[in-house]
Amino acid sequence: MTVRIRSATVADRDVVQSVYETAFPAEERGAVTGVALALLDAPATTGAVSLVAELDGEVVGHVAFSPVSLPGDPSWRGYILAPLAVRADRQKAGIGSRLVETGVQRLTDLGADTVFVYGDPGYYGRFGFDAGHAADLVPPHALEYPFGWQAMPVGGVGSERRAGQIVCVDALRDPALW
Ligand SMILES: CC(C)(COP(=O)(O)OP(=O)(O)OC[C@H]1O[C@@H](n2cnc3c(N)ncnc32)[C@H](O)[C@@H]1OP(=O)(O)O)[C@@H](O)C(=O)NCCC(=O)NCCS
Repeated sequence: MTVRIRSATVADRDVVQSVYETAFPAEERGAVTGVALALLDAPATTGAVSLVAELDGEVVGHVAFSPVSLPGDPSWRGYILAPLAVRADRQKAGIGSRLVETGVQRLTDLGADTVFVYGDPGYYGRFGFDAGHAADLVPPHALEYPFGWQAMPVGGVGSERRAGQIVCVDALRDPALW
């Protein structure tokens, strides 16, 4: 079994949609798939990084990262990981981890300071995401599950010492996502 992580393109649209349909429950899948496709469609205007995981040539996973900013601090570069999914029948084989780790490395190479995620600490903690790093960086919307707000500094010494409310791309502005 060979897993390959590569940049996603609009040609992956249908298969990415099908991955989310298997991975998320019906009540969540519409909003989450909408974000994945919006970021996939407009990498140039959003600055998003979208990756897919291929297992023996077949797309079975997807992750997107989009830029976030801090008003008044234009030199700071943040990203948020959202969304992430692995096809239901291919979970627990390390594919989600490969997507997260490859994406974080790519953002580090792009000069990111901090990567955020809003999700289960039981999963994201293994990569170095931590609520403490996000404590002074307020999410764009009130959170239904505040414990899920985490960050990971990736840009070297001091990159986590910022405070303020971050601004996200339009695709993530639906309060229902938070
Ligand atoms: C979360 C998800 C992307 C992980 O993908 P994956 O390929 O199965 O991940 P990996 O194989 O790298 O890691 C699997 C491990 O994570 C654990 N895990 C998965 N979801 C978890 C969660 N919500 N909380 C804690 N642990 C979790 C698994 O139990 C497994 O543990 P193990 O290594 O001890 O066996 C996948 O389960 C998925 O698509 N889930 C539905 C969609 C979703 O929840 N997306 C994230 C939204 S923030």
